[in-house]
Formats: sequence, structure tokens, C-alpha cells
Amino acid sequence: MEQHTIFVVFVFGIINSGKGYQYFQGLIPNGDQVPHPCKENYTWNGVGHRNPEGGGSRNQFGIDFLANGKKWNPTLCMKDSDKDGMSNGQELGDPSCVWRPGAQANRTSDLSHPGVCEPLDSEICLAQNQWEFCDSNEFKCPALDATKDVHTLTLRFNHTKVPAQKTNYYCQTFDIPTDQDYHIIASKPIINNTAVMHHSVIFGCLGGYGDDAGSMYNTASPCGMRPSDDRCTQMIIAWSLGFHGQCENERMGYRIGKTGYTKLVIQNHWNNPELRDDYYDSSGVLIYYTPNLRPYDGGMMIIGQTSLNIPPNMPLYTATSKMSKVCTNYITQDTGPLAIVGNYLHMHSLGKSIKLEQYTDGKMISSLGEVDVYHYDHPVRHIFETPVEIQSQDEVYLTCNYNSTGRNSTTIWGHGTSAEMCLAFIQYYPVSHHMLFILNQDSKDYCAVAVRDAGKLGVVEGCNLDDFIQTQLNSIIHKIENVCDVTGQSCYHNCYTYMKDLMKDNVCVRENNVIDMVESATSDYQNINAFWLGFKSCDKRIAANAATTMATTHWVKTTDDISMVRTVEGDTGETIIDDIADNNVATTVGQH
Ligand SMILES: *[C@@H]1O[C@H](CO)[C@@H](O)[C@H](O)[C@H]1NC(C)=O
Ligand SMILES: *[C@@H]1O[C@H](CO)[C@@H](O)[C@H](O)[C@H]1NC(C)=O
Ligand SMILES: *[C@@H]1O[C@H](CO)[C@@H](O)[C@H](O)[C@H]1NC(C)=O
Ligand SMILES: *[C@@H]1O[C@H](CO)[C@@H](O)[C@H](O)[C@H]1NC(C)=O
Ligand SMILES: *[C@@H]1O[C@H](CO)[C@@H](O)[C@H](O)[C@H]1NC(C)=O
Ligand SMILES: *[C@@H]1O[C@H](CO)[C@@H](O)[C@H](O)[C@H]1NC(C)=O
Repeated sequence: MEQHTIFVVFVFGIINSGKGYQYFQGLIPNGDQVPHPCKENYTWNGVGHRNPEGGGSRNQFGIDFLANGKKWNPTLCMKDSDKDGMSNGQELGDPSCVWRPGAQANRTSDLSHPGVCEPLDSEICLAQNQWEFCDSNEFKCPALDATKDVHTLTLRFNHTKVPAQKTNYYCQTFDIPTDQDYHIIASKPIINNTAVMHHSVIFGCLGGYGDDAGSMYNTASPCGMRPSDDRCTQMIIAWSLGFHGQCENERMGYRIGKTGYTKLVIQNHWNNPELRDDYYDSSGVLIYYTPNLRPYDGGMMIIGQTSLNIPPNMPLYTATSKMSKVCTNYITQDTGPLAIVGNYLHMHSLGKSIKLEQYTDGKMISSLGEVDVYHYDHPVRHIFETPVEIQSQDEVYLTCNYNSTGRNSTTIWGHGTSAEMCLAFIQYYPVSHHMLFILNQDSKDYCAVAVRDAGKLGVVEGCNLDDFIQTQLNSIIHKIENVCDVTGQSCYHNCYTYMKDLMKDNVCVRENNVIDMVESATSDYQNINAFWLGFKSCDKRIAANAATTMATTHWVKTTDDISMVRTVEGDTGETIIDDIADNNVATTVGQH
């Protein structure tokens, strides 16, 4: 089914890493007066960008401005960036190319856009303007249009002072209708102060009506990456500047009301790099909801890596994160298979490329979206009209690549635009209220740890994982540390015989997928990596031995014996050293 998935990619921009368009407007004549070529009385604020609100990819004028060192001078002024026969200076009211920042331009009326070829319908311009801009501010949602009985609800922050600090996360809680159940099926951003709005996330609060969920944010107040109320951590809407709304897959909606979310928390991220103290904001969202419930309740989850340590001047640094089998298995016990309908992948300005993939049995089986050339100010949203199904044994991997060339200090994880992130926001149904933030820290898999601590690993391939970890694993760790090479370099004879017997006797150490689950669930144990190196140090010898036995004795395979052979990745020709005491000679596998 995955092969037939229709893969729609929406590209949307968010404000440039730091300075917004208001800063650049002051660097060109009449920068805040440039008319939108297709909208009467409408100003094109981000003059150098394709998106009228700034951010994202540049139009030809923006490309020329950048190439000219972001300076207005006769070179840029005399250029005709949009090739419509009028120089940039003529279009912006500085025909003699004498304007300097701060000065009044020669002309302040009859201006036109230096990056859009006009008149739009001339033959030259039809060829020249190769991007959508006349309707780029319009939100299209056929599934919304096809639904009857849709109501709207406007939720906006109180007019709130934006603190004079670079990065601000603010939350406000809102009441929503609770007389019956509804589905939120679409939403549109209401952006009040474009100079500061960076992104926003909307969370649903579970709990009875009239309770105090989210009450710490009854007026707009500082908050962290998620609201500090456990009842209000389910994300439903994520917005970035340039993105015109969220249109939900026609098979799902976010359930609000009697049995759904009873309040919503809007979180706004304000960026104020110039530390101005005269900014206010009252941004929010327009919600479309309906009592005509769709087949499924949808949700949004985050997969991500929170341990980032990107050294300076590295052309390529890779961070990975995954939703492990333990996690998928746990979630799908409640929900059945998950249907992924969309995602957007998020890093900051060092981001180079990013991908999200579905794995089964250690093999990649489908791409859930890939951005080859990532631009922080130009994130990509992937939408699957035909959902991609995630089964209980599947895993989802996120790979983030960074380029830190030009940075002279280490970059770590953080909210600020100069820190980094590695996150996938995934929209799916049916919703699970158990796992929302599937975050890894290095190889620590917090999802698996939480599932283990709840005693919910269950029985896999005949192995009772909870029981195994609680009652048997410690003595195995102890034994391995004594008889195996915990650097993983060599296979000691005693380790070999111990592992062979253990595999024969214990169903929990035979199958790769069971071992993977134990590995994920114990990832927070101290020194566990050395144990696993020792545990696997004889894998090749066991595999080679089984192969030899089969080859020389024409030995008949039985299910039991086959299950003893765990697949070993790659063949490095590593040396197997038997214990001297056993008088065995060293053997090398893989190089005959
Ligand atoms: C544009 O502004 C003018 C002058 O204020 C007004 O007369 C006109 O109706 C406006 N047009 C639109 C489409 O809003
Ligand atoms: C505007 O430019 C024209 C042509 O270069 C020049 O003749 C005129 O004096 C200028 N006017 C102002 C107010 O600078
Ligand atoms: C803030 O906004 C809420 C909802 O819009 C409103 O009920 C409340 O009165 C406002 N509070 C202040 C202090 O303005
Ligand atoms: C922002 O909100 C304030 C107060 O509600 C309002 O006066 C102002 O016009 C708004 N600005 C925009 C661009 O919506
Ligand atoms: C890394 O970034 C630098 C500076 O932005 C750029 O010049 C270089 O080509 C990039 N290298 C790679 C491998 O992407
Ligand atoms: C590198 O470090 C110096 C001094 O510590 C600083 O002034 C400069 O801005 C840094 N350069 C970059 C690209 O971060």
C-alpha cells in the first residue's frame, strides 16, 4: 500500500533566523510601501521573498539583494531584477539611484514590485513569474468545504507585551464548546504581529468540563516547550509563518467537547532578536469544528533527539532518533495500526537534510518524507492523502544532518534559533493519549523506559519481557561481564559456550526483535553498552559455527537451531580469540 501513497509536499516559510522583514525594509527605498501586484491596498512586506509575509525562498530581487551584500547602491538600483523593463530604482521610487537608508525617497507613490514582472498578464511576465503568488495567501481545504454544519471559533491571545528577550514561549488557555462532541477539521492562523511571531503550537486539555486544566495560563504567561500541566500536552495544531492553515485528512478530526478536549492551550513562540520593548502581540487561531464526526480521532506526536552536541566546523554531523518497537508495540495495543497522514520535519539554521523512514524487521520499507536541501526558513510539510500504516512491530527513524561550517563553538539542543533541534511532528490516527513526545537522549529511549516502568512490555515471541528484565537480566549481565570481552573485539571461549547454552535455554535472547526490545527498554541502565558489546561478541562465531555444522554434516535445519543464529550485520573479518586455557587456536571469519 505504501508504494501507492500520494505524496504531497507543501513548502512554507518561516521568519528568517533572526532579523525579520521589518529590518530589511529599512535597507531599500520605500521598503514598507511596496504594493502587492494582485491585491489592492495590500503591502508586500517581505520584498525580497516569494512569500509576501517574508521568509522562505527569495524572488529574483531578493537573490540580487543578497548577492549585492544586502546593500542598496547603484549596482542593485540599476538592475532590472524582474526583467520587466523597469530598473529596481524606478520601481522603488529612486530613479537616480541616490537613496540612502533613513532618507526620503525621490518618489513615494506609483511604486511597483522589483521582484515581480509586471504587467502580470504580458507574455514576457507569464514566462518570468514562475511561482504562485496571486493566491498564495489563500487557504484551501476541500475536505472542509465538503463538510456540512461547520462552526468557527476565534481564539486569540490577549494583547500581550512581548518581553525584550530573544526567545519567548508564551501560553494561554481557552474554553471551547463542551455541550457535545465535535471534531476540529481545519484551522487558520491569525497572525497579529508578524515581526515577532515565529511559530505556534496548540495543545488539547483532557479532563472534565469545569476543571482547572491549564489554569496557570488563564492569562498569557511564559511556558516551556510544552505546557506544564500533564492534562494539556496533546498537540493538535502546529503553525509556522508562511503556512496558511491546517486542513485535516477527511478521515479524522481532533475531538473536542464532552468526551474530547475541554480546553485548548495556544503556545506562541515570539522571536525578538533586536530586544525591542515596544512589541505587543495578540495572535491566535481560527478553528473550524463540526458535530459531524469523522471516522477517527486524530492526534499529533513528536519523535526527536534531544541530545545534540554539534562540534564547530563540521560539514556533516548526523543525529538520529527513533520510535522503537517497544513504543510502537505499546501504542498499537490500544489503537491498532497507526495511520500516518502527514508530518513536518524540524531543525534550525544548521540543518542540512532530514528524513523520516518506516522500518520493519530492521529494513527500511517506506519513506515518510525527506528534505534533501533543508532551509530553516523554508520548512517542508509532507501530506499523505492515502495514509501510511504503521504496524505494531514497525519502527520510525528520524535522521537529521547538520553542517556547522562557520560556527566557532559547539551547538546544543535548545529553543533559541541559534541552538538546534531534530524533531518530526507527525499527524496520525487513531489518537493515542499515551505517547506524545517520543524523545531520545543519545541512545536512551525514554519511550521504552516509560513503557518498561509501567510494566507493559508484554509477551513477544514467547518471551515475557517484563519478567525477563525484572528477574533474569541482572544475572545475565553479571555473567557476561565476567566471561565475555565487553569491548566486543574478541570472542572468548567461555563466552561462546555460555551464549550458546543461554540461547538454547532462554527464549528471550534468541530473536533479534526481542533483543532489540530489551535493548531499547534498558537503554537508561548504566554501562549497558559494554554489556551489549560482550553479549554480542560471539555472534559471528555462533553464526559461523552453525554454518560449518550445516555444511560439513548436512545437518538438517530445525526451527530451534535456526532461531539460535542471530543475524550479524556486515562482515568485518574480526578475529575470534579463544581462551588460552582452552588451548584453542585463533580463527578468523569472513576472510577465507
Ligand atoms: C483601497 O483603498 C481605497 C482608499 O482607501 C478604497 O477606496 C478602496 O475601496 C480600497 N479597495 C479595497 C479593495 O479595499
Ligand atoms: C527626483 O528625481 C528626478 C530625476 O532624477 C529629479 O529631477 C528630481 O529633482 C528628484 N526629486 C527629488 C524630490 O529628489
Ligand atoms: C483575556 O482573554 C480572555 C479570552 O479572550 C478574556 O476572557 C479575558 O477577559 C482577557 N483577560 C484580560 C486580562 O484581558
Ligand atoms: C493587532 O492587535 C491589535 C489589538 O488587538 C490591533 O489594534 C492591531 O490592529 C492588530 N494588528 C494586526 C496587524 O492585526
Ligand atoms: C556547509 O556550509 C558552508 C557555509 O554555509 C558551505 O559553504 C558549505 O558548502 C557547506 N558544506 C556542505 C558539505 O554542505
Ligand atoms: C567566532 O568567535 C569570535 C570571538 O569569540 C566572535 O566574535 C565571532 O562572531 C564568532 N564567529 C562566528 C561565525 O560565530
